[in-house]
Amino acid sequence: MRDLTIAIDGFSSTGKSTLAKLLAKELGYIHIDSGAMYRAITLYAIENGMLRGSEVNEFELIPQLDFLDIHFEFNPQTGKNEIYLNGENVEERIREMEVSSKVSIIAKVPEIRDYAVQMQRKLGEKSGIVMDGRDIGTTVFPNADLKIYLSASAEARAIRRYEELLKTEHPATYEEVFRNISERDLMDSTREVSPLKKAEDAVEVDNGQMTPQQTLETVLQIIRERFGA
Ligand code: DC
Repeated sequence: MRDLTIAIDGFSSTGKSTLAKLLAKELGYIHIDSGAMYRAITLYAIENGMLRGSEVNEFELIPQLDFLDIHFEFNPQTGKNEIYLNGENVEERIREMEVSSKVSIIAKVPEIRDYAVQMQRKLGEKSGIVMDGRDIGTTVFPNADLKIYLSASAEARAIRRYEELLKTEHPATYEEVFRNISERDLMDSTREVSPLKKAEDAVEVDNGQMTPQQTLETVLQIIRERFGA
């Protein structure tokens, strides 16, 4: 089978990154979590006092984007492509609630989206890539070989994210997580630039009742049928 470009989109906590990571491992591809880029920019803005309440200081932040060093490095211990911000591994810090609750503010700024999309397309120049996000099949790679749209109910997603956070140093209550997911759903689907929507040619997979392994198997089956792997 030739190397494919695979786009995985869907609401937060649908298991996009988990699927993308497993799929990349199975196929020997690279995995890029595009949401991690928006999260890293959010962390940078918070740490440098450019994000107060729900206000982002775009005039200060946008000119600084060109000088940010955001890149991924594969960690063989976690099996994940982890994100670095200006030389520091911020893979864990970008998942904390403070970043999660502010990232939608950053992700709706058109100049920030342009910057991220450019980086994502550059990373996708070589095929053999699985990228997950919100606008990968619609904006970043409209010609992707395969587009998967993952869905699951808000309750199922909140339980998953809550359980994930319990394992970290920064747990949150189920109510906080549910509220955060509902707010992000609304912002992701109603923002003006690149709102989350299913690409016309995407295959929808509802994995609310599936384990990560079952989701992987479902998508591998689609790949076998389409590309004969
Ligand atoms: O997938 P995630 O929850 O880590 O994404 C973090 C935020 O970034 C989320 O609020 C939506 C936004 N995002 C986006 O707008 N476009 C993408 N391609 C990926 C993420």
